[in-house]
Amino acid sequence: MRKIAIINQKGGVAKTTTAVNLAAGLSRNNRKVLLIDLDPQGNIGTSILNNSDMGIYDYLFENAEFGQCIIHAGKNLDIMPSNERLTKAEFYLLKEKNPVDVFKTKFNKAASNYDYVIIDCAPSLGILNQNALIYAEEAIIPASTDPLGLDALEKMLVAVDTINDSYLHNLKISKIVPTMFDKRNKICKDSLTEMQNAHYLKVTNPVRICSKTKEAPKYKKSIFAHANNSRGAQDYKQLTIQIIQDEPQKSFGEEVVAQVIAE
Ligand SMILES: Nc1ncnc2c1ncn2[C@@H]1O[C@H](COP(=O)(O)OP(=O)(O)OP(=O)(O)O)[C@@H](O)[C@H]1O
Ligand SMILES: [Mg+2]
Repeated sequence: MRKIAIINQKGGVAKTTTAVNLAAGLSRNNRKVLLIDLDPQGNIGTSILNNSDMGIYDYLFENAEFGQCIIHAGKNLDIMPSNERLTKAEFYLLKEKNPVDVFKTKFNKAASNYDYVIIDCAPSLGILNQNALIYAEEAIIPASTDPLGLDALEKMLVAVDTINDSYLHNLKISKIVPTMFDKRNKICKDSLTEMQNAHYLKVTNPVRICSKTKEAPKYKKSIFAHANNSRGAQDYKQLTIQIIQDEPQKSFGEEVVAQVIAE
């Protein structure tokens, strides 16, 4: 199984959009996916769920059962939503003996039947996100293709090194996803080139600005369900393929990748 945190301390760089559409892309390719919203803004719920009573807060801090806190959103897609009650998380975590191990203790066994656990993190490097990073084995960093995006990316890479050193962890940055890309815009093109030059193999195809991607949450749909022929769907299919290609074992077969391309 793969445990992936989608993280960047900078806000509005398409973390949630990437988490939702990658989870949808993987689940459409027969991967069993748990998508966890770790942001009190609750944007995953807004994006693809109609109702959610219990979620991550109840599971972490109220002793609720795992099954009560997830929603079956599709054949292979379960979602653990969040809400503003999660703002109290840091307060509770700091009372724990090992404040960064709470998430790991709660999820290691409970989520072991999934092929992928994808965590949509809040724009912060607080103790709650550190919990996600200590549980995760991989991080995907969406980074906007502009100067502030580049700056945040470099800071995020340093932060991951610091966390690995501090907690003797081995979180790997598996992909950097250039987001909000507009090829007519010179600063986007220059920023993408800079990202590629600095982190060549880790940088995925850029995810282009797309009005269908922006409007999909209004209809509570992934980009594939909302506008499967859009630029956004093409880009997130491409990203899904790149993530699948990194799978350690080939048990899902090559034909599955072909299916994503043809879909
Ligand atoms: N490819 C895209 N084209 C157009 N709009 C996009 C694209 N990707 C994301 N957006 C829009 O940009 C805004 C920010 O995206 P999103 O919420 O995914 O970012 P985030 O990093 O999760 O933000 P936060 O840090 O607040 O959690 C949203 O309105 C979203 O719909
Ligand atoms: Mg978000």
